[in-house]
Amino acid sequence: MKVLLTGREGQLGRTLVESVPEGIELIATGRSELDLSDGSACGVAVAELRPDWVLNAGAYTAVDRAESEPELADAVNAGAPGAFARALAKTGGRLLQVSTDFVFNGAQGSPYRPEQALDPLGVYGATKAAGEMAALALPGARVLRTSWVYGPVGKNFCLTMLRLHAAKAAAGEPLGVVADQVGCPTATHTLAAACWRAIGADSAVGSTNTATNASAANEGPMILHWSDAGAASWYDFAVAIGELGVAAGLLDRAAVVRPLSTADYPTPAQRPSYSLLDCTASRVALGLEPLQWRAALAQVLEQVAAQGP
Ligand SMILES: NC(=O)c1ccc[n+]([C@@H]2O[C@H](COP(=O)([O-])OP(=O)(O)OC[C@H]3O[C@@H](n4cnc5c(N)ncnc54)[C@H](OP(=O)(O)O)[C@@H]3O)[C@@H](O)[C@H]2O)c1
Repeated sequence: MKVLLTGREGQLGRTLVESVPEGIELIATGRSELDLSDGSACGVAVAELRPDWVLNAGAYTAVDRAESEPELADAVNAGAPGAFARALAKTGGRLLQVSTDFVFNGAQGSPYRPEQALDPLGVYGATKAAGEMAALALPGARVLRTSWVYGPVGKNFCLTMLRLHAAKAAAGEPLGVVADQVGCPTATHTLAAACWRAIGADSAVGSTNTATNASAANEGPMILHWSDAGAASWYDFAVAIGELGVAAGLLDRAAVVRPLSTADYPTPAQRPSYSLLDCTASRVALGLEPLQWRAALAQVLEQVAAQGP
């Protein structure tokens, strides 16, 4: 099976490259090989390479910057999946579009099911929602939504908090973190396993999957939800990063974490206050057992420790 991957240098993209299943011919592209803001280049890539699947892990992910760059965010997040879908309709290939909990407004206060109506609060969420619609115009396409992605490399909350814990603990200062936004952290290694399953393949590394159902690509729902298990605020996540960072030998000691409200920490983009994804049906469809988010975090921190300074 030939898979054209975008976002090779991103958090998820790197983990997908590291966990590529046997039997997959992977063509992994980054920005220098394929500019996702160029729809015609996306179409040409599909026409020339004729992949069985496009796994679109590349995205414009700068949530706050998107508020001042809506055209670019839209070109990458909605234009590229649209171009892939149109080209794949001609070649007979399929599309897995990775999407986000930020397509929901966060107001309902209970986990969002895959089929619920979208109501994004900001430009990033709106462009990702448009990307979902563009992808799903292709029969057989799949959308996989996830939340709060982090891994051992790249720009993410976990690695930022490790640095801040060290700096604030050394300075004897508290670390303020927003406590009134609730979601679920998702480690790239469990997310990559879910992506491979969604296209009918089994990764060599990944989550605690024990089931053998790899039929999600053909029989499963069009929209899948995948996050690690449980729920957390950013504050809870920051506290756990401190505790488990000490346990992993990455920190001498953790800083005191102080809960902040969203109002204390204004950002250009409004974020959903409660964006848990209901993954129940998708876990069954994918045949994957989730890891509780703290267990997944411990595994990521072990990887960070193994990488060394
Ligand atoms: N991060 C999260 O918390 C989160 C949460 C929910 C869903 N998601 C979704 O999960 C997927 C993977 O996210 P991630 O965290 O792995 O993102 P990431 O680390 O920001 O990686 C995104 C990749 O896309 C590339 N990219 C951006 N614009 C491009 C362009 N014009 N042409 C080609 N490549 C371009 C980036 O390249 P450069 O490195 O050169 O910029 C980067 O390598 C995305 O669909 C995202 O929307 C992420």
